Amino acid sequence: MLDPLHFDAHADTYDRARPPYPAALWKRLHDDGLLRRGTRVLDLGAGTGLATGPMLQAGASVTAIEPGPALAAHLHRRWPKATIHIDRAETAPLPPAAFDLAVAATAVHWFDLDVVLPRLHRCLVPGGHFAVWRNAYGDPAADLTPFRQRVAAITARRDDQSPRRPGEFDTGVWIDRLTSSGHFATTRIEQFSWTIELSAEQIHDLFTTFSNWNAAEVDEAAQAVNDLGGNVVEHYVTPLIILERAATDDDSQQTAEMPSN
Ligand SMILES: C[S@@+](CC[C@H](N)C(=O)[O-])C[C@H]1O[C@@H](n2cnc3c(N)ncnc32)[C@H](O)[C@@H]1O
Repeated sequence: MLDPLHFDAHADTYDRARPPYPAALWKRLHDDGLLRRGTRVLDLGAGTGLATGPMLQAGASVTAIEPGPALAAHLHRRWPKATIHIDRAETAPLPPAAFDLAVAATAVHWFDLDVVLPRLHRCLVPGGHFAVWRNAYGDPAADLTPFRQRVAAITARRDDQSPRRPGEFDTGVWIDRLTSSGHFATTRIEQFSWTIELSAEQIHDLFTTFSNWNAAEVDEAAQAVNDLGGNVVEHYVTPLIILERAATDDDSQQTAEMPSN
C-alpha cells in the first residue's frame, strides 16, 4: 500500500538524497513570465523545499503546504522565509485570489483532484497558472544501462505489477485529469532530460525515498552499483505541464468593477 506519509518517515534521507530540479525548468517558468520577483506562489506538497527554495531565490513569496511534520520542520529550517501550513492540499486554508502561481513538484499524484482543482481555481487570480512537474527516475528513451537492467530485474520480481495510477510518463492521462473538470486548460507541455552520477550510497539514499521500494530492494540496488564499480550515471526526465486557470463570468465582473486611473 502506498503511503503519502512515507516521505515524512524518511525526512532526513529525503532532504539529503533527492536531486534538484533542472535549471532549464526554472528558466522556462521565468521566461514564460510565471516566476518573477514578487510572484505569489503556492507550493503544494512542498516536502523539504526542493521547489520552494529556488522559487524564493527567484524573488517569489512562497506559501508551502506540507502534511508531513518532519518534512515541514526541514523546510522551515532551510527556508525560513516560506509561509508553511502543515496540512493537505485538500484542507489547507487557501484565501480567494491570493496566488499568481500554484505548483505541484513531484506531488500531484498524491492529491484528490476532485477536491483540489476547484480549490486552486478559487485561490488563483484570474489569469493565474498551475505548474505540475515531477522528477522521473529512469528515462525510458535512454539506452538501458547495466544498472537499469539490474533495477528492472528487481522490480520484475514484485507480486503486484499493476499500476495503481497513471505513471510518471503518462503526460496525456495527467493532462486529461487536470483539465477535464474545466477549471484549467493546458498552455504548455515540455520535458527536460538530464543525467546525474550517483554512488552506491547515494543510490541507497535516493531509492529509500521512493514510496514503492522496500528496504531489501533498496539494498539490492545499492549492491548493484557496487558490483558495477561504485558509481553509475543515471538518466532522468522531468515532464512539465503548465495550466492556465479558466476564466469565469465573475472574473469579467471583477475586471469591470476595477477602478481605472
Ligand atoms: C515526492 S514528495 C515531493 C516533495 C517536494 N515537492 C519536492 O519536490 O521534493 C511528495 C510530497 O507530497 C506530500 N503530500 C502527500 N499527500 C499530500 C496531500 N494530500 N496534500 C499535500 N501534500 C501531500 C508528501 O508529504 C510529500 O512531501
